[in-house]
Amino acid sequence: MTNATPNDLPHILLIGATGRTGRLILTSALHRGHKITALIRPSSSLPSVQTLSTIQGSPLLAADIFSALSTITGPIVIISTLGQTRTSGNPFAATTSPPLFMSASATAVVEAVRTSSANVQKVIVMSMFGTGSSWQNLNFLMQWVMQVSNMKQTLEDQNAVDGVIRGSGVRFVMPRPAMLKEQVGLPVKALGDSGEGAGFMPSISAQSVAEFMLDAVVSDEWDGKTPVLMN
Ligand SMILES: NC(=O)c1ccc[n+]([C@@H]2O[C@H](COP(=O)([O-])OP(=O)(O)OC[C@H]3O[C@@H](n4cnc5c(N)ncnc54)[C@H](OP(=O)(O)O)[C@@H]3O)[C@@H](O)[C@H]2O)c1
Repeated sequence: MTNATPNDLPHILLIGATGRTGRLILTSALHRGHKITALIRPSSSLPSVQTLSTIQGSPLLAADIFSALSTITGPIVIISTLGQTRTSGNPFAATTSPPLFMSASATAVVEAVRTSSANVQKVIVMSMFGTGSSWQNLNFLMQWVMQVSNMKQTLEDQNAVDGVIRGSGVRFVMPRPAMLKEQVGLPVKALGDSGEGAGFMPSISAQSVAEFMLDAVVSDEWDGKTPVLMN
């Protein structure tokens, strides 16, 4: 982490601020002194805070992301914590998000960044352990669950996000957290892209992921990387 003061901290455009990890990022980023603009669906809401601007729109529309960017001056980092949702946490529960909606959003983000004159420094996207090259080091049980349950839709979407962001030419960080758990932030163990050495059933607190992603806003250590994260 650098010693940036609130005056030179990048403004964060947060997509997914109403989700589990997104809310933690929002709270911690405000605490760290970032100004935040959250792009949320018209059906969702966030509490009113002085340094938080909430803009209603769709993360799938480049025009809505472009509009949100045009309200911000100075350096910007875009953070996306969108997630495929289901009716419950059970992997077999019915999906409530369209297939490939996260990758549609990633495409929209890239288009907005390319066409906007805003000073976007990087895009930080929350991926997951199992995506891309990390599939080989996910244990057989999780591989099986992801292939036979409705988590398959999440995996397909995360793999598509990975391809869109990597192929975009936009500076990125795409952490691949292990299974999320509650608890406060714990020290983060960042493995390589493939997650070699992760062990049988690694996990990480959502708070730790939030802090890692915010550290990556002001550090170039993880630029262009997709580290597997665990506690
Ligand atoms: N769960 C795990 O163990 C785990 C582990 C590693 C990585 N991950 C990844 O981490 C990411 C974040 O997970 P999370 O549990 O923090 O997220 P989450 O609580 O499920 O939040 C989902 C977010 O996506 C938005 N969203 C869902 N469907 C949408 C749609 N059709 N259009 C627009 N927005 C939509 C939601 O907005 P609304 O509030 O408006 O619905 C919400 O802000 C996911 O990509 C997941 O794959 C999860």
